[in-house]
Amino acid sequence: MGLGVIDSPAFSLEGTVAEVFYKKGLPKVVLLKTATGTVWIKLEKSLRRELAQPPKVGDRLRLEGTISDKYDGWVKQYKASHLEFVATAQPPAAKRSQFCRVLICQKSSCCRRGAKELWQELEAQQLPIALKATGCMGECKRGPAVVILPHKKRLTRANAQQIRELVCSPEA
Ligand code: FES
Repeated sequence: MGLGVIDSPAFSLEGTVAEVFYKKGLPKVVLLKTATGTVWIKLEKSLRRELAQPPKVGDRLRLEGTISDKYDGWVKQYKASHLEFVATAQPPAAKRSQFCRVLICQKSSCCRRGAKELWQELEAQQLPIALKATGCMGECKRGPAVVILPHKKRLTRANAQQIRELVCSPEA
């Protein structure tokens, strides 16, 4: 009997999205809470590009793909080639969303520190917020500088996860 190529085992998991990480505006890794635990699942590049809508926290998904023996840094070896929305998360209450505005400095120092990518990432996540570009807020070395209204929360070195948590919190 000759040596054959061993196929990677397949997986099919259903669960709720606890986190989504983006690269270049596309969802790259999903943290899925399943009945048996939490799993990091990387989305294949072709899948990322063909998604009509990005998954967001609270969505219920079924992900299928293969489990590779390789580890890629902090990402576990689950790689999905198929994604199906079982149920989508309800957006935060309309009353709350009307008032959430995220001001992001779009001047050069903040842009060098990721302000444009932050903007794209927030747009791609389709959060119920209004994005607004601003001028310099005097936090140039600690950009991207962000202010969240109405509660006037100022952020430096802001990232999409912080912003999402703030605008989706009950106090927002
Ligand atoms: S350039 Fe963004 S705070 Fe100054």
